[in-house]
Order: sequence, then structure tokens, then C-alpha cells
Amino acid sequence: MNGHVRIVEVGPRDGLQNEKTLVATADKVELIDRLSATGLQSIEATSFVSPKWVPQLADAAEVFAGITRKPGVHYPVLVPNEKGYERAREVGVEEIAVFTAASEAFNQKNINASIDESLARFAPVMARAKADGVRVRGYVSTVLGCPYQGEVPLADVVRVARELHAMGCYEISLGDTIGIGTPGKARAMLKAVAADVPMAALAVHFHDTYGQALSNILACLEEGVAVVDSAVSGVGGCPYAKGASGNVASEDVVYMLHGLGIATGIDLDRLADTGRWMASLLGRETGSKVGKALAV
Ligand code: HMG
Ligand code: MG
Repeated sequence: MNGHVRIVEVGPRDGLQNEKTLVATADKVELIDRLSATGLQSIEATSFVSPKWVPQLADAAEVFAGITRKPGVHYPVLVPNEKGYERAREVGVEEIAVFTAASEAFNQKNINASIDESLARFAPVMARAKADGVRVRGYVSTVLGCPYQGEVPLADVVRVARELHAMGCYEISLGDTIGIGTPGKARAMLKAVAADVPMAALAVHFHDTYGQALSNILACLEEGVAVVDSAVSGVGGCPYAKGASGNVASEDVVYMLHGLGIATGIDLDRLADTGRWMASLLGRETGSKVGKALAV
């Protein structure tokens, strides 16, 4: 296992995109600023997607313009097309994430496009990002199963990851969108992708619907992955993925990593405080077991 793991905190995006109640822009800004003070190196701040599709993040520009960007911290945002890219660049975004899936059925529901159409849509975005010096991350969703299609062939996951990498994404995040995977399958999936895309360019992104996320992460760490996506307080889920629940909680991942002797650079107490603060904003208890335990 690697001695250092980078956490990509996706709570402000994957988390808040799925909340029924709208979170105030000022609270989103405060959340990101608090996360910036925990030692996190990557915080996915918001999405420049269609506000008709994801009204929760319609204030993306205001949020991004409102945060205090800490030197050395990356603040990627989701961008589905050139329109999103332009909106993001207007407020000074320096890193974006494009997103597609290994399942045709999910892609149609989520971005109204086939896999190949989505890749074609990204091509001009990638070209502009390259010219502008903007870093691009890529997501592959439904890598361990799809809510509409069921099984997703490994070959499809590998192909989409390979194409995103070949297009210029510096890192590919492999998403178990509905949290259906188990450790053996997660390990086999990562191994298959790593045969085509360097392990150093891969990240794992687990939702915890079936309570398997930490076990899946451990299996992937043993396989050599060194980047893990997670969301403070375990918020999250894709509104277009039937049955998807929260991301694995960042606090729980950091606790496990530190216990394994793996460095993250993150102050766990501060992170857990932030998780409890955010949960109280949302009117519930923190979704992180570690967050609860540390409060006692
Ligand atoms: P569409 O309806 O096919 O596209 O949506 P369109 O081009 O016809 O646009 C429809 C309207 O949206 C138009 O407005 C556009 O101008 C506008 P109108 O003319 O009707 O007034 N529009 C935009 N507005 C602002 N910013 C934009 C933008 N683009 C179009 N960027 C589209 C296609 C891709 C836009 C839409 O399907 C969409 O936004 N989907 C996003 C869905 C989403 O955000 N899902 C959650 C994120 S993915 C996820 O959570 C998984 C992940 O976490 C990994 C994992 O867990 O697996 C990443
Ligand atoms: Mg997700």
C-alpha cells in the first residue's frame, strides 16, 4: 500500500447535489472554507451542469466566487459540456471534472447522451482546457453495476477509462455510483483498468449504499490505488441513480487510513467537526460513524 493517500473531498458537490432542501449559498461557501482548513488537498466545490437538471447547484458561480481558495488546494468542479466550461472559467475555475459512465442506460438518464456522444462532447472541452492550462479529471460511473442496466461488463469500464485518459484526463475516478460492489469485484475491476491506465492516474469513488465502501477501499488500497474520493459526513448520491445513497464518509476513510499508518495530511478532528456542523445545517446527525464517536 502507498504511504500517502490523497482524499478528494466531494461533499460540497456529490453531497449537496442530492439534498432535498436547498442549502444557502453562504453555507456552501462556509462548508468549503472549513474543509480548506482541514488539510485536504482536493475539494470538489460544485457543478456547472444545467440548473434544470440539478437545481441544488444552480448557484455554482456564486459559490465558487465566494470561497477563499487556499494556496496548494485544488477546487475541481463538474462540467458536462462547453457551456459549463465557459461558466466555470468566468469565475476563475482552474480544474474541472468531466463525467460519463460505463453503462449506456445510466448515461442517458444522467446526461441525456450515449457514452460515445458524451466523449465527443468532451473533446472541445478538453482542447480548451489544454489551451487554458486547466487540469481535467474524468469520472466513469457505474463501474460495478448500473441501476437500469444491471451488470456492467468490465471491458466497458476499461474502455471508457482508457478513452478519458487518452483524451488528457490526468486522473480517472472509478465510481460505484449505487454502492453495489463488494471487495473482490472492486479489486478485479481496478486491476483490469490498471492494466490499461497507470495506477497513479486512478482514483476510487465509492457510495456506501450496501455498507461495503470501506472494505472496497481497503481492497483497492492493497491493489495500489493512492487517491480516494469521499464526502464529509457521508452525504451524497446522484439524483439520476435510482437507489444511490451517500458517499463513504471522509472521516471514516481518514480514520482507517491513519490506523493503517497511511498519511493524508488531514486533521481528523477538524474534519469531524466540519461534518457535524454540516449535518446540523441539514437538520440531522452526522452520517459518519467516526464523526459520532469523536463527539462523545
Ligand atoms: P440536455 O437537456 O440534453 O441539454 O441536458 P441541452 O443542451 O438541450 O440543454 C438543456 C437546457 O440546459 C438548455 O437551456 C441549456 O442552455 C441548458 P434552455 O435552452 O432550455 O433554457 N444548459 C446549461 N445550463 C447551464 N450550464 C450548463 C448547461 N448545459 C445546458 N452546463 C446536460 C444535457 C448534460 C446539460 C444535462 O443532462 C445535465 O446537466 N446533466 C447533469 C446531471 C448531473 O449533474 N448528475 C449528477 C452528477 S454525476 C454523479 O453524481 C456521479 C459521480 O458522482 C460519480 C459516481 O458516483 O459514479 C460523478
Ligand atoms: Mg458519486
